[in-house]
Amino acid sequence: MAPPDTADTTSERQAFNEEIKSLSAAPLWDQYHGVLTPEPEVKGVPHIWKWDGIREKMLRAGDLITAKEAERRVLMLENPAYAGEAKATETLFSGIQMILPGEVAPAHRHTPNALRLILEGSGGYTSVNGEKTFMEFGDYIITPNWCWHDHGNEGDEPVIWQDILDLPLVRSIGAIFHNPYPEDRFPAGPPEGDSLVRYGSNMVPAEGLAPDRLASPIFSYPYARSRETLEKLAKTTDLDPYHGLKMEFIDPTTGGAAMSSISTFLQRLPKGFKGERYQTTEGCIFTCLEGGGRAVVDAGGTETIIEFRPKDVFCVPCWHPFRLEADEDTYLFQGTDKVVQTKLGLWREKRGNA
Ligand SMILES: [Fe+2]
Repeated sequence: MAPPDTADTTSERQAFNEEIKSLSAAPLWDQYHGVLTPEPEVKGVPHIWKWDGIREKMLRAGDLITAKEAERRVLMLENPAYAGEAKATETLFSGIQMILPGEVAPAHRHTPNALRLILEGSGGYTSVNGEKTFMEFGDYIITPNWCWHDHGNEGDEPVIWQDILDLPLVRSIGAIFHNPYPEDRFPAGPPEGDSLVRYGSNMVPAEGLAPDRLASPIFSYPYARSRETLEKLAKTTDLDPYHGLKMEFIDPTTGGAAMSSISTFLQRLPKGFKGERYQTTEGCIFTCLEGGGRAVVDAGGTETIIEFRPKDVFCVPCWHPFRLEADEDTYLFQGTDKVVQTKLGLWREKRGNA
């Protein structure tokens, strides 16, 4: 028989809760509906980091600290709801990093996966396990987890890029490891650009691949190539009413996502595009490479309008309905946690109001 809901019972339950605290236990029944919500409830909020302001402070940071001293001279793009937690979304970190001419960001490796999206400057490079790739505007570079990597700038102007890492995800699992390399630079390995030449033409070596790869063997996806693909497709392809024209970067050896924990996309919205309402469990980080427009995000019944221009970064957290509009032909890079959610059977989307 169920106990009567009386004041006596209430005080008895409170006393019981106090008793079990000493056992490091707590009653699930008091929190049940907060733990298992009917739909996702996340703390993150939609937000935009405007390029002009971030760039100015990034250049100022160049006067304050060297890349070597900082190990990585990065301004973290923190979601306002996660201040101090190094999170842009529930699972992804993002930051803006700068290397000045002649500087080296010393070699290290870590368990979080990282990507770079180049926003400004020429002559910068990333080296992954000793293979250098030079980076130009819009290029997307992968540094897979536990690969040695260093960055440098052989040009004559600051090189600035966006980082996206699965750091919050890996931290939530508890599996953060980080090693500095004893020298600034990892010893030179394959010739510059070797991976793209070897794996970037729909061919793989006939003798097969090293079995331990968890990420695409192409670690550099030049913007010139991917942009040209979307530009050509735009002339012959019907637009998706939600995404415009959206292509995913893949690992050519598997057909799956280019990275094991971050899905990456390039999206083209034609001038005048007005997307329909879309909702997904992915936590999305967008970077405007060209063009401009807005994301209209439903944040708990309140519309947040995010006006974006080139090099602005903005996020749309998990399960926040949003739609995209473009004032001119627009190219957006996108990093999300879709690949992880898909592997865990969690990924969902809702198109329109249905
Ligand atoms: Fe790193």
